[in-house]
Amino acid sequence: MVYNRPIYRKTGKCNLLDLTMEKKTFSEIIDRKKLKEILKEIKRKKILVVGDLILDKFIWGDVSRISPEAPVPIVEVIKEDLSLGGAGNVSLNIKEFGADVFLISATGKDENGKILKKMLSERGIEYFLLERDTPTITKTRIIARTQQLVRIDREKREKLNFREAGMIKEIIKEKINKVDGVIISDYGKGMITEGIIKELRKLKEKYGKITTIDPKVEHFSYYKKFTCLTPNRFEASEAVHKKAENLTELIDTGIKIKNKLSPDYLIITIGKEGMIVFEKNIYHIPSVAKEVYDVTGAGDTVIGILTLCLSAGADILVSSIISNIAAGIVVGKLGTATVKQDEVKKFFEKNLKYGYIEKIK
Ligand SMILES: Nc1ncnc2c1ncn2[C@@H]1O[C@H](COP(=O)(O)OP(=O)(O)OP(=O)(O)O)[C@@H](O)[C@H]1O
Ligand SMILES: [Mg+2]
Repeated sequence: MVYNRPIYRKTGKCNLLDLTMEKKTFSEIIDRKKLKEILKEIKRKKILVVGDLILDKFIWGDVSRISPEAPVPIVEVIKEDLSLGGAGNVSLNIKEFGADVFLISATGKDENGKILKKMLSERGIEYFLLERDTPTITKTRIIARTQQLVRIDREKREKLNFREAGMIKEIIKEKINKVDGVIISDYGKGMITEGIIKELRKLKEKYGKITTIDPKVEHFSYYKKFTCLTPNRFEASEAVHKKAENLTELIDTGIKIKNKLSPDYLIITIGKEGMIVFEKNIYHIPSVAKEVYDVTGAGDTVIGILTLCLSAGADILVSSIISNIAAGIVVGKLGTATVKQDEVKKFFEKNLKYGYIEKIK
């Protein structure tokens, strides 16, 4: 039972070799009417995102000569782009999918912090941003034509102190009753501490709000008893301190994580091979991507759309299928890392009979 060479058909779907699995097409799981209802319901939902906010900067340019000062290329800047990263990108995915979002995060007391606030406001994302003494987390990429030359990171990973954590907890408590679901977008930059997680778990138990986590490896032991975790393959392996080489090992990994942390569900995203969903049973959902241009941020799309679907009352399989479709669309786009409801609807229409999931166990 090895899983190391999936076959890709022209449609971009993959077959897991050597495993006999029960296949079900999308149309057997969700019909047009149901999808329409879920998407409509999503427009009435609001999600609270708690996590690390990042400013992503892209400087595009041309290189035609080497510097006389040092053996490095000179980039003549053509344009600069800014985008919301980390928990900001998760929030943007929710907003662009037609729902409302409240982001709780932090910035520094600097220019980039102001830029982030402006970007959030312009995109209709409500927020509370704690102003910290550390710089606003900023990742700057310098790209010559299509080649990334260097990435410059500005950050100081410092956990929230007692007073800061207290303020964040207060805001969370104030907002929890005004939202339909919660996402913890943990990029390990300091916002998500054990104390914040404990508070969120307490509130989940008290109010029963769907609470999902895009995890950071170092914090795995904090994440007990939430609705769903969405580690990628690498994060899942790290969580159990064992590299998963094939599907069988990946399934064992998932089972171990589920036993350890007792989430209601677990989704391991596996890049071009899609995702594995652990509920009572275990399913593989192949990626639906036709062409792949830019995979960054696909995980943000998965957790954003998944949480919206769950909050709108969809079950885990349907929610996974929709978020997998959304991620498959996002990776086919250059630059933008979000997807609209109409794009998912259209894709779904086209693939009702062809898109499928496979039951593994
Ligand atoms: N190369 C790819 N080809 C097709 N689909 C992809 C590819 N990469 C990602 N996807 C889609 O995006 C989803 C999430 O991808 P992935 O497992 O890479 O998450 P991730 O590592 O958390 O991403 P990131 O942290 O960059 O946001 C997958 O489940 C799949 O649907
Ligand atoms: Mg990720």
